[in-house]
Amino acid sequence: MAKEVPLIDQERCIGCGACRSICPDRIISADSSDKAYIAADSCMQCGHCYAVCPAEAVAVPFLEPPAELRSVDTGGAASWVDPLPSQMLMEIMRQRRSCRLYRDQPVDRAIIDDLLHAAVTAPSGTNSQGWKFVVLPNREGVIRLGEVTGDFYRRLNRKAANPIVRGVLKLLGCPALHNYYIGYYHKVQDALKGWDTSREDRLFHGAPAALIVAADRNSSCPAEDALLASQNILLMAEALGLGTCLVGYVVEAARRDPSISRLLGLEKHYRIYSVVAVGHPALKWMRPVGRKHLEPDILTSI
Ligand SMILES: Cc1cc2nc3c(=O)[nH]c(=O)nc-3n(C[C@H](O)[C@H](O)[C@H](O)COP(=O)(O)O)c2cc1C
Repeated sequence: MAKEVPLIDQERCIGCGACRSICPDRIISADSSDKAYIAADSCMQCGHCYAVCPAEAVAVPFLEPPAELRSVDTGGAASWVDPLPSQMLMEIMRQRRSCRLYRDQPVDRAIIDDLLHAAVTAPSGTNSQGWKFVVLPNREGVIRLGEVTGDFYRRLNRKAANPIVRGVLKLLGCPALHNYYIGYYHKVQDALKGWDTSREDRLFHGAPAALIVAADRNSSCPAEDALLASQNILLMAEALGLGTCLVGYVVEAARRDPSISRLLGLEKHYRIYSVVAVGHPALKWMRPVGRKHLEPDILTSI
């Protein structure tokens, strides 16, 4: 079936050429009177032509209208076209810190939906939008994922505790288990003990909800797509007054243990790229903390 392409109303088209000049697929041509028309069907459906047309001559019925925030009263204003409030954006980026202490308060579904709408505004390779989100909307779901992840680390720690297994693998040129033992074994052992003895949650830090961001392995850039969407979630959560924390331990476990994807109902062609704990923070940051110096530590110019 041919892919749906934008519709151009030639009566309205003023022949400015804006859509032609920005179309990433170069599928828009102009007739002898400069009126635009779609010349091919290899459209990635980004909607840039619709977004740029000054004459409202383009329609993209295959795209949804931009989502308005549901948990904030915007007064119905289409705020997305306003100029970027750069300082506000910077503030949000600066203020976002990983949250590891949450109030015992559920996260409204409207807020979760807003996070997901923010997520899908991210760029994606060839506009594949090949991401997939799994929502764990309550603490029970988070604990279930935590327990399956914990089981994986129990097995891994049993293996890693054996010096012969570690040593042989290292000799065979597979130092991963040895490195895990040095870097993580004891931390993980403590965390498992904390959970078993007092239900201390060092994985999700007591978060009442979580979002899993996966992407289709067959899309062109699944990791980039999923991680860009994840960053949007983190920033929007901050803007909405929520705390978040990425939980890499679950991502690593899911990479090796298919039962995690099964639990989350993800088909085999999806890979999990991030797990985001979400909740209302139980503490407020008093002051910002800097990062490494850009120069000379992490920036070189040539
Ligand atoms: C890929 C990735 C995985 C992470 N995994 C965890 C994790 O499993 N547990 C955790 O508490 N924090 C995790 N974090 C949070 C980092 O520790 C945190 O982002 C970093 O220390 C910087 O602090 P900030 O987020 O407060 O700015 C992870 C961050 C990233 C980017």
